[in-house]
Amino acid sequence: MTRKTRLWISRIFLCLGIVYLKIGGLSTVVALGASIICNKIPGLAPRQRMICQSRPDAIIVIGQGAQMGINECQFQFKNRRWNCSALGERTIFGKELKVGSKEAAFTYAIIAAGVAHAITTACTQGNLSTCGCDQEKQGIYSHLDGWKWGGCSADIRYGLGFSKVFMDAREVKQNARTLMNLHNNEVGRKVLEKNMRLECKCHGVSGSCTTKTCWTTLPKFRQLGFLLKEKYSDAVHVEAVRARRNRRPAFLKIRTSNSYHKPMPTDLVYIERSPNYCEEDSLTGSVGTRGRVCNKTTHQANSCDLMCCGRGYNTHQYSRVWQCNCKFLWCCYVRCNTCSERTQVYTCK
Ligand SMILES: *[C@@H]1O[C@H](CO)[C@@H](O)[C@H](O)[C@H]1NC(C)=O
Ligand SMILES: *[C@@H]1O[C@H](CO)[C@@H](O)[C@H](O)[C@H]1NC(C)=O
Ligand SMILES: *[C@@H]1O[C@H](CO)[C@@H](O)[C@H](O)[C@H]1NC(C)=O
Repeated sequence: MTRKTRLWISRIFLCLGIVYLKIGGLSTVVALGASIICNKIPGLAPRQRMICQSRPDAIIVIGQGAQMGINECQFQFKNRRWNCSALGERTIFGKELKVGSKEAAFTYAIIAAGVAHAITTACTQGNLSTCGCDQEKQGIYSHLDGWKWGGCSADIRYGLGFSKVFMDAREVKQNARTLMNLHNNEVGRKVLEKNMRLECKCHGVSGSCTTKTCWTTLPKFRQLGFLLKEKYSDAVHVEAVRARRNRRPAFLKIRTSNSYHKPMPTDLVYIERSPNYCEEDSLTGSVGTRGRVCNKTTHQANSCDLMCCGRGYNTHQYSRVWQCNCKFLWCCYVRCNTCSERTQVYTCK
């Protein structure tokens, strides 16, 4: 959630005279006007509004999870023509990408993962009333490995389930794009699930490991960003296959395959080729690269050649001045020289 949205939401909370009650570390929203709040949050589908009304405490966490996904997207794509900047505007899920491109695929996966991650974190921290640590494993002894489940295992199934119910609730149209979005949401959640880690602690005299307790923890979100970025590079072009009976898109098949070869459940999929994102185009949602900073000496995606799409670049001169070669003189002062450097910044025409 951007600071603006958060401010705005808290302002609504205040206006309605809603009270946050702190009950034993559980912050519970006494939702006098949950329906009013949920109706004012932009970008929610009708079913999401219903979930919001029944779980106003979770909606805040969902917003944080979506924002975490958008921030990670902007980090992973900061040197690309498409840099995820248009996301994070207007709605809590960012602006809808109109083209069913690889970029849209990445966005859906990272936000679905972000929501599951944030909900699970909130559960382990005791911030949501309906979940906590994963109790199922508690106290069970793993004879094979010689350790016991203990501590607070992250209840990843709860987080994944919540993300599925909430994020998939926007996909109500029966078209190819819906199938694509649902598939990519699931990829994001799968990547998270597959990268859950085991953390252990030894107990015993002076660090000896006579007994060991272990619990599951969430991976760092940055790691998921890198993994999904790899999947973005290997994303699979698919198309929808229509059901014979009602002619509605029923499932996705790999486009180049003659038989009905389905994509792997762990592959990001897209249905339309990406625009080149060189020029501003409201039809595709491309904001263009005019004014973007580029690098003249690199051969990466942020090189002036690639970033500026052959339009050329402007050179801006700056000089930077700082204290340098400082010497400590007896006793007691420091003498420095003044250094300066001319630097250039290049921006696309
Ligand atoms: C991303 O692109 C937008 C639009 O061109 C630009 O305003 C913004 O500064 C870029 N962000 C980064 C991190 O380069
Ligand atoms: C849980 O609540 C605490 C205290 O209100 C807050 O500092 C923390 O950020 C919350 N954690 C999550 C994941 O929302
Ligand atoms: C440009 O790219 C080169 C090579 O990758 C790198 O060494 C340099 O620091 C970059 N310059 C800027 C201003 O980022």
